[in-house]
Amino acid sequence: MCAEAKPPCLVAASANFSVRDRLSTNPFCDKERTTMRYLTAVLVGLGGMFLAVSHAAAQPPAGAGQPAVLRALDLDRNGVISAEELNKAADSLRKLDANGDGELAVVELLGARRRGPGAQPANTSGVNTLEKAPLPKDDFEQRVLGVLKDMDENQRAGNMNVPLNDGRFLRLLVEAIDAKNVVEIGTSNGFSGTWMALALKRTGGKLTTFEIDHGRAELARKNFARAGVSDIITLIEGDAHEEVTKLKGPIDLVFIDADKPGYPDYLTKLLPLVRPGGLIVGHNMNRPSPDPKYVEMITTNPDLETLFFHMNDAGIAVSLKKR
Ligand SMILES: C[S@@+](CC[C@H](N)C(=O)[O-])C[C@H]1O[C@@H](n2cnc3c(N)ncnc32)[C@H](O)[C@@H]1O
Repeated sequence: MCAEAKPPCLVAASANFSVRDRLSTNPFCDKERTTMRYLTAVLVGLGGMFLAVSHAAAQPPAGAGQPAVLRALDLDRNGVISAEELNKAADSLRKLDANGDGELAVVELLGARRRGPGAQPANTSGVNTLEKAPLPKDDFEQRVLGVLKDMDENQRAGNMNVPLNDGRFLRLLVEAIDAKNVVEIGTSNGFSGTWMALALKRTGGKLTTFEIDHGRAELARKNFARAGVSDIITLIEGDAHEEVTKLKGPIDLVFIDADKPGYPDYLTKLLPLVRPGGLIVGHNMNRPSPDPKYVEMITTNPDLETLFFHMNDAGIAVSLKKR
């Protein structure tokens, strides 16, 4: 047990985040204390930023209005970051890494919302305050969701996966339009593809997904296999700009999430294959943003109805090919 007194920063942190009482009843060894000091410094800094932004004098209520980092750490949303939640802090913080670069930018920590053009979303974690974790309907969903959870928690680094809620949104779209033929540009390790495959197993459809990086493609194959969805997925390794020219329509939904300058080319090549009533979904409309020409193309074509969804700092464009 540590005999050393609580560091002053811990008391300062407690003023904002109510950790003092919980911690004072929990002994910490040196290693844990080192972790605690790091976390405390993070919390103090973020607490200060939050207070500066909100001008709130009192402890903010749990959930709505709090920075993304607090929502992420306060797993049970009770307004207190318990010792147990602190022990899980590294995993919780990792979920804020919306762009999967292994680091947390201020915008990812705060998830601050700005209004107007280029607005940032309410949070960057992809975990909104009103939503709950996905609920498995049956054994199949349980299996797939288990693999997705593992990918979400352990494979994000370097794989640039969509945030969790963007994956859920893709599943929702695919299942809602009863898609049979889905095309994905940018497989990575198969996170978004597995979300869509979850829906395609229900609709009786299939996914064709393109990846230029061999290592990520290999990992995706393994993930598809353990999720039990390999039979409905064709993973094509190579440059999608060339490979998509071999595709045949009709396509129900195209999901574009690869090289950002390439979005206009993907749209030009694939839009003619999308069926009337089909969807073109573009990822990263905010950050890292695609070639502005893509936004121009999907917002000025009278054959398309396009809306932008900002559930996190990535941003999704959904374009309906009108009937
Ligand atoms: C943002 S990641 C895709 C993440 C994935 N959709 C997910 O959420 O799991 C983009 C991927 O596109 C791949 N990529 C980039 N340019 C490509 C190209 N020309 N053809 C095929 N894949 C490409 C990259 O190797 C990278 O794995």
